[in-house]
Amino acid sequence: MCGIIGYVGNLSAKEEILNGLKILEYRGYDSAGICCFYKGELKLIKKKGSVDTLSQVCQGQLKDVHCGIGHTRWATHGDPSDKNAHPFLSENNSVAIVHNGIIENFESLKGNLQKQGVRFRSETDSEVIAQLLQKSKCESELKKVQELSNVLVGSYAIAILFKGLENQIFAIRKNSPLIVGKSPNGYYLSSDVNALIDKTTEYHIMDEDEIIWIDNNDCYAFDKNLQAKEIVYKKMDLDKQDISIGNFEHYMLKEIMQVPTAIKLTINECDSMVNPFTKLPKDMIKNLKHLTIVGCGTAFNAGMTAEHYAREREIIAECVYASEYRYRKFLKQDNEVCVFISQSGETADTIEALKIAKEHQIPTIVITNVATSTINKLADYIIPTKAGPEIAVASTKAYNAQITALYNLMDYIYCIKNKINCRTCILKDKLYDVVDKLENYKFDNIEELAQDIVNTERVFFIGRGVDYATSQEASLKLKEISNIHSESLYAGELKHGTLALIDENTIVIVIATQKNLFDKTMNSIYEIKARGAKVALVTQFNIDCEAVDMLIKIPTTDQMLMPEISIYPMQMLAYKTAVLKGLNPDKPRNLAKSVTVE
Ligand code: AGP
Ligand code: GLU
Repeated sequence: MCGIIGYVGNLSAKEEILNGLKILEYRGYDSAGICCFYKGELKLIKKKGSVDTLSQVCQGQLKDVHCGIGHTRWATHGDPSDKNAHPFLSENNSVAIVHNGIIENFESLKGNLQKQGVRFRSETDSEVIAQLLQKSKCESELKKVQELSNVLVGSYAIAILFKGLENQIFAIRKNSPLIVGKSPNGYYLSSDVNALIDKTTEYHIMDEDEIIWIDNNDCYAFDKNLQAKEIVYKKMDLDKQDISIGNFEHYMLKEIMQVPTAIKLTINECDSMVNPFTKLPKDMIKNLKHLTIVGCGTAFNAGMTAEHYAREREIIAECVYASEYRYRKFLKQDNEVCVFISQSGETADTIEALKIAKEHQIPTIVITNVATSTINKLADYIIPTKAGPEIAVASTKAYNAQITALYNLMDYIYCIKNKINCRTCILKDKLYDVVDKLENYKFDNIEELAQDIVNTERVFFIGRGVDYATSQEASLKLKEISNIHSESLYAGELKHGTLALIDENTIVIVIATQKNLFDKTMNSIYEIKARGAKVALVTQFNIDCEAVDMLIKIPTTDQMLMPEISIYPMQMLAYKTAVLKGLNPDKPRNLAKSVTVE
């Protein structure tokens, strides 16, 4: 969830760690801390608040240090505070750790340690790791680290310093990513490859249960039985430009403006000579009877859009939240294929759901935006989205890229099943039309609507058919970053209860892009208007209707592809509303970019 940075090398560890934490801050931002070897001791500085606050506290301190670990937190156990911030020192200050994830059995471990007289300084689950390492009877530090994997239950990426082992960092991971970066200036550890761009020439994504030992100028890897492994580094292939904010006020705005490019690059990927679909076994597709689509949040909403598209392509598809898929009674369908969607590729619920599908021998396809992600290592087949790094917590360009990839997948399945030559598919041209329309779109009336929303009590988004999927995503965006309550509904369901909430303090945003459903949706508009609410209509159709207070006119394209267009003003609406409220859209309350905990 949050960010880990480690550094050993000839540069200032303080600067390298603080710079890295700044890049990782989008992953968690309630507190931050750093611990370095300083004059033979483990010197710890940590603070509630941002990395900038930590940097100020560090001023004039930690001079001439060359090895340390840092962390930016997204609290799971214990409120955001100085004492609960990472790193944690063991009771006698001989071990320092930072941890991403959740230690599920921390209560019993902590209880046992307390019985032995160990005093804890925080309310976190993570502190138990430092205390366990201090208490360990193993003869070497490497063995102490290895022992953790036998004791800890849950998910963890951990970086460790042992007093007396100056310029050495140990690390271990399970169900939470950790990456080693190599550079002429030393070694880095990071929970996210983004913090290594520009710093390292090569990187290595740690395997599940792998242990890393960085000793001054060398780095060694071991499996869970402490058998040495060869580290195969990859060349750093990412560009600093991709993660810089450029001239934009916020990452979210930059990423909304990148939506057309994200679609274009994803179309090109799907259409390339080495396109990912050619790797899907033809028989698997030909015989496919049931497509299960799994994801969380925005990824789920993209899946729901695809579920409608699939129906048009005569494919039976069902979209399920990953957190539900995991725990509902499992019923295997004949000739089922599962598609997992995840921007980050690190979402714990989605990863665990994928593991369940694999356990039942169901072929798994992932649609991910991060090539280095955990889910890519687990899946049978990968369809990459090409949205580029998404830093803002609210997902925008990745959503459009996911829909693009899903449409391509559905068309591919349709073509194989119906023995149509895929190269004759016209989807590519239609999607290019979408790109063209979005590039020229002006977001008329969005600022005004945002202003109205800031002053209202309730917001509803409604739509029929695939427009409901868009209204779900629009509502999620608004909730996430503006802290305004909103709900989305099937337009036809309004009259079955929720109409009771519609009054003059309500804004209803109606999404209506499907011609065959348009008149029915107009009925809902009249019902809403009769109860005094303000109605904003998002549509490509020309309409002049007194019941509509504000028209958000969107460009037209092939009706089935309208979700790519209708969400665009809604992404901007959420952004503008947050900004008008004086909130930072990139760092919404209580949230963080990727949810690597269950
Ligand atoms: C999107 O705006 C949200 N931050 C969230 O719903 C997100 O889409 C969800 O957590 C899934 O993330 P993933 O795509 O990285 O798996
Ligand atoms: N569970 C730990 C805590 O609450 C780590 C959370 C995280 O991954 O940021 O401190």
